[in-house]
Amino acid sequence: MRFDVITLFPSMFSAIRDEGVVARGINKSLLSVHTWQLREFSENKHRNIDDKPYGGGAGMVMQVKPIRDCIEKIKQKIPDTRVIYLSPQGQKLTHQLAVDISNFNAVTLLCGRYEGVDERIIKHDVDMEVSIGDYVISGGELAAMVLIDSVSRQISGVLGNKESLNDSFCDGLLDYPHYTRPEEIDGQKVPEVLLSGHQANIDNWRKDKALKNTQIKRKDILKNQ
Ligand SMILES: C[S@@+](CC[C@H](N)C(=O)[O-])C[C@H]1O[C@@H](n2cnc3c(N)ncnc32)[C@H](O)[C@@H]1O
Repeated sequence: MRFDVITLFPSMFSAIRDEGVVARGINKSLLSVHTWQLREFSENKHRNIDDKPYGGGAGMVMQVKPIRDCIEKIKQKIPDTRVIYLSPQGQKLTHQLAVDISNFNAVTLLCGRYEGVDERIIKHDVDMEVSIGDYVISGGELAAMVLIDSVSRQISGVLGNKESLNDSFCDGLLDYPHYTRPEEIDGQKVPEVLLSGHQANIDNWRKDKALKNTQIKRKDILKNQ
C-alpha cells in the first residue's frame, strides 16, 4: 500500500518511516510513505500557500491552487489514490475504518495547518475527511501518522500473526491483561492459570478477562454489538 502525504512539515514523518511497525512494513516492501512539500506548489516567491480568510477573523487559510496542483501531480502517478483530509470534522478513525482503508491500494493524506483548508478543496478534491478524535490539534501531521500506523498494522505481513490477532477492538472487545517475568514482584503475583501450561484454561481465562475488561472500561463498545 502506498501513502502520499501533503504537508508543510515532511521531516516529521521520519518518526514513523525510520522506526517501529511502519518502518518494518517499508523494509518488507509492503508499504511506502512519500511526502510532498506543499510549498513547492506555491506560485509566489515567498512560497506562501495560505492567505487571510474572506469575512475576516483570526488565522490563515490554506489556498486551493497549491493543494489542487499537488493532488493532480500525485494522481498523475497514482490515478486510483483516495484523498483523505485529516480534520476534526471528519469521520472518527476506528478499528473498522483502519481495516477499510487498508484495503485501498493508495491514499493521499492532506495535512491542514492554521484554520485549515479552503472549503472548495473539501467539496471538490477530497474523498473522505477523517478525525482522530473530538479535540483539535495544531496540524494534520500527527493525525496522518496515527492513521498510517493504525492502517499499516492491518496490512497482511506487517505484523506477526500472533500480535495482530490479540489487539483491542479486533473482535469487538478490549484486549485481555498481559504479564511477563518475574512471576512475583513486590508481592504481586502472575495469575496462577497463566503458569499452568493448560492452554484451554488459559484461553478461557483470557476470553473472560477480555469481556470483563470491556464491561469495566468501555461499556459503550458492548452496547454497539
Ligand atoms: C488548528 S486545526 C484547524 C481546526 C479547524 N479550524 C476546525 O475547528 O475545524 C489545523 C489542522 O489540524 C488538523 N487537525 C486538527 N485536529 C484534528 C483532528 N482531531 N483529527 C484530524 N486532524 C486534525 C487538520 O488538518 C486541521 O486542518
